[in-house]
Amino acid sequence: MSILINGGRIIDQTGERVADVRVDQGLIIEVAPGLTPDPDEVVLEARDCVISPGFVDLHTHLREPGHEEAETIESGSRAAALGGYTAVIAMPNTNPAQDSVAVVEFVRAQGRAAGLCEVIPSGCITIGRAGAQLAPFAELAAVGVRIFTDDGTGVQDPLLMRRALEYAGDLDIVLAQHCEVARLTEGAVMHEGECCSHLGLPGWPAVAEEIMVSRDIDLVRLTGTPMHFLHLSTARSVGLVRAAKAEGLPITAEVTPHHLSLSDEMLMGFDPTFKVNPPLRTRADIDALKAGLADGTIDALATDHAPHTQASKELPLDQAPPGMLGLQTALGVALTHLDLPLAEILAVLSWKPAAIAGIADRHGRPVQVGEPANLTVIDPHQVWRVVPGSLASRSRNTPYAGMDLTGRVRHTLFNGVPVVIEGVPQK
Ligand code: DOR
Repeated sequence: MSILINGGRIIDQTGERVADVRVDQGLIIEVAPGLTPDPDEVVLEARDCVISPGFVDLHTHLREPGHEEAETIESGSRAAALGGYTAVIAMPNTNPAQDSVAVVEFVRAQGRAAGLCEVIPSGCITIGRAGAQLAPFAELAAVGVRIFTDDGTGVQDPLLMRRALEYAGDLDIVLAQHCEVARLTEGAVMHEGECCSHLGLPGWPAVAEEIMVSRDIDLVRLTGTPMHFLHLSTARSVGLVRAAKAEGLPITAEVTPHHLSLSDEMLMGFDPTFKVNPPLRTRADIDALKAGLADGTIDALATDHAPHTQASKELPLDQAPPGMLGLQTALGVALTHLDLPLAEILAVLSWKPAAIAGIADRHGRPVQVGEPANLTVIDPHQVWRVVPGSLASRSRNTPYAGMDLTGRVRHTLFNGVPVVIEGVPQK
């Protein structure tokens, strides 16, 4: 099936140009202005829209196996495609956890069966994410696992983390740390600060993140092994990463759309929808995260898409699980809340995370002849209202319910197949 993307403006890492794009057999076969549609060709309208390399999410919770009541690989893949993603890294806090070849291959196979985007399993750093014994990195790396993380928890033991980095150093893999010193956050429900004292709730202090960021920067310096920091949320974390990068250490970092757009004040109504880990921080933290994104300290915008059932999110704040949906709102939140050129926003959504994930051979590629057709077409000006019931996820826990966002995905092509046309999933 041949497809013509008609009348758009291409933005990728090579620059910006107005051109039509023809796709056939999974590949981009023509890029030129004024192409005429062939008689039996599928035409995707892109007037006033932008054609970008498909997005890559470094941080997606798909919940399968084990928590299919909240999300399945298929429902999460559909949300991803609708959000413009052609690849997502599936976080390992499934049940069983992604610490064995069998589970990792299951996740990959379910992703393939859904066929809506590439589902790339991460592996655990420790067996069962229990923080005691290292997972079999070599075995998992041999079947293509590239990102290893215990996300949901950080690796607490500094000796184990050192050994993990030493072990990883011999393999072409990246350790991704969830930075949280658990002893400092026991019982915490929100950011420790003014709002938290006002509400009389137990707080999650910024230092619980910063101590681990700082420790792991020291361990990267000691071992020379690359590390990625997940969902950074505080101003000081950004400063630490900035200094580490200036030293030349092999560190990358991500921030989520919610930490860039929502502050701890959202918790004033005790609504568990706004409970997330790490927690929503202060406006000053938001400004620092934005500055970090603008100056390249932060490399990627990652959703931390974390579906939870309505029943669990209706529990009282201290019992409700942390997490928010993110795949379908990431682009809109970025375009609504960030004062950055569009090309820079697309960079942190697409080709920069593709490089971190080690998938830049097929995702986040420039829009050029011969490249795999993993593409997204966005309307950067479309204003739309977030309606939880119309999202593709099995869960409803979006913090943007009822809010208007500017910028929406119009079409997504995965391996040359239009999986979303005019905002409608094709499977
Ligand atoms: O808010 C969060 N939810 N943060 C995490 O690190 C884990 C995630 C989840 O799995 O629900």
